Amino acid sequence: MKKSGFKPLILKVNTTKRGSELESLLHSEHTIEIEKLVVGGDGLGRLTFKEKSLVVFVPMAAPGDKLKIKIIKAEKNHLKGEILQIIKPAESRRPAPCEYYESCGGCSLQHMTESAQLAQKELILRDLLNRFIPNAKWELLPAVKSEFDFHYRNRIQLKAEGGKLGYFKKSSHQIVDISHCPIADKRISDSIPSVKSELTPSPEVVRYELRINHLEQFEYYKIGEDGEGLSFSQVNNSVNNKLVKAVESLVSAINPVFVSELYAGAGNFSFPIMAKLPTTRMESVELNPKLTEFAVKKLTGLNLQNRLTFVTSDCESFVKRGELSKELVVLDPPRAGCSEDVMSAVCKRHPANIVYISCHPANLARDMSLILQKNPSYKIKYLQIFDMFPQTDHFETLVHLSK
Ligand SMILES: C[S@@+](CC[C@H](N)C(=O)[O-])C[C@H]1O[C@@H](n2cnc3c(N)ncnc32)[C@H](O)[C@@H]1O
Repeated sequence: MKKSGFKPLILKVNTTKRGSELESLLHSEHTIEIEKLVVGGDGLGRLTFKEKSLVVFVPMAAPGDKLKIKIIKAEKNHLKGEILQIIKPAESRRPAPCEYYESCGGCSLQHMTESAQLAQKELILRDLLNRFIPNAKWELLPAVKSEFDFHYRNRIQLKAEGGKLGYFKKSSHQIVDISHCPIADKRISDSIPSVKSELTPSPEVVRYELRINHLEQFEYYKIGEDGEGLSFSQVNNSVNNKLVKAVESLVSAINPVFVSELYAGAGNFSFPIMAKLPTTRMESVELNPKLTEFAVKKLTGLNLQNRLTFVTSDCESFVKRGELSKELVVLDPPRAGCSEDVMSAVCKRHPANIVYISCHPANLARDMSLILQKNPSYKIKYLQIFDMFPQTDHFETLVHLSK
């Protein structure tokens, strides 16, 4: 054979022994029982392999299910399975009310009763707090339920491509074409066929927001045009009203002279606090100028200029130049939780009270752990789940930390 200068490249694949062992389980079939749900909504089961107990996460499983599963993914320390057969269904299991549920990525818990969904959300929060803040004392108040299990969303975001309009499929970027959505407000759900008929089919994915506006009228628009649809507002009016009332009463009991509010949106909490405490001053920080513009118009109309200031800024820059309240800081960050800069500024300022509203329990637990490590003098005075998003694994948590 003619010699060439070519040297074969030998790739050393750095798989740990455990990793390669788990990969050997790909496509294998097992019978497991589901213990509980975890953050993200998957069921957690275990299987024994070479005398080791391995965790398997299974989407659309219910705690108590006995399932035949197939391993579809092997990570370093855990596996992912898909249900092949429900051998014995959990008591909480039910046929999903929505015909699209099996494929649609919009919901993750419709296969369980609402009371079981909520019990699992509480368990998820308890597990996280026990793990992240094992030495803290807390009492979880009974969860605030949604008045409506279905048709509660005042806005939804759908994707359109070709002639299809709907949510992405579970774990995919393909669109499930829908003609109704049972978690959306009935007026939104009933409008989906007419919206679809009005759209010009697009070769690439385009997003639309469909919503009931502040005049209680249905409207829809393409997201991305003039930043529309990128503004934040709470989606479940009845639960939001209860959340606002709870925040309002916590703040009333503190009765601060000055409040700092970070991630303020359009003033969902700021305006009710202003109305409840007629001498309190407040500085509310929000990144999205559309939201602060709305808030400034509203505060001017209400003649609150001397008491309420809206600052259009990212909270990270704000905390570097502005001074936070010593009495109360209200935090309502997006799913990622508070950034490191915000956390360290809040911990450094060490306010007497922190009211934290969170839509992601794992990031809430992380942030609470940071706060309590830096300032062990805080006590958890209030802790409650607000079930803002039935049929999905998401929920809001309200926490009051006080020195
Ligand atoms: C969960 S929402 C809460 C909004 C408001 N508190 C409410 O209840 O309607 C989080 C808000 O934080 C804003 N936001 C996200 N990142 C931010 C940042 N780095 N600095 C300031 N605001 C931010 C978003 O625009 C959004 O309005």
